[in-house]
Amino acid sequence: MKIAPSILAADFCHLEDQMKLLEQSNISMLHIDVMDGNFVPNITFGPDQIKMLRQRSKLIFDVHLMVQNPDWIIPIVAEAGADIITIHQEATTHLHRSLQLIKKNNTRAGVVLNPATPIETIKHVLDEIDMILLMTVNPGYGGQSFISSVLPKIQEAKKLVEGRNIDIEVDGGINLETAQLCVESGANVIVAGSYTFHGDVKENLEQLTRVINKQGATA
Ligand code: DX5
Ligand code: ZN
Repeated sequence: MKIAPSILAADFCHLEDQMKLLEQSNISMLHIDVMDGNFVPNITFGPDQIKMLRQRSKLIFDVHLMVQNPDWIIPIVAEAGADIITIHQEATTHLHRSLQLIKKNNTRAGVVLNPATPIETIKHVLDEIDMILLMTVNPGYGGQSFISSVLPKIQEAKKLVEGRNIDIEVDGGINLETAQLCVESGANVIVAGSYTFHGDVKENLEQLTRVINKQGATA
């Protein structure tokens, strides 16, 4: 069970301090949202920012590309310091090829599905991936409400990856209550942006860690 705080909700003027708080809370993974203003109606970080963060942190960088036709940026983001790169099924014409490109750049590969995209669309790439990221909001912004109709898809994903070493990550609208529902359904990596960074970061992460580990032990 892992928490991947989304840096999108952090204080951009104090990113180094914010990353330190995560490390002090025994967090090992950082979720970084790259948006292109085309696949989603927002713009966030690019490779240069990732490179700078990389110089200041040993966290595992989980880079979520919300980029239409992402092949051009994959090698650049890998070079900047990504450990895992996830690309959207909906943004890629040749999904299998793009995932292989991620691997070729010595980075773990994942595929992301929007809430409306069925799990069947990635059956053919299971051999290529280390992670499935299921969006529990429509991508583009932090602070949106969790879409609970995605829960059955988490269960389907869990069945689909049986016997394989593939993580199931969820992203969007996560709080103590929705995290519990996701873990019950089969998720093992929990992205949390607003929940983590609004208020007392350490206290928030302590509570979330408690909830998901308790749940994970009984699931
Ligand atoms: C949304 C991003 C998320 C976002 C989550 O498009 O992919 O990673 O940062 O933010 P919260 O946790 O606030 O919903
Ligand atoms: Zn994300």
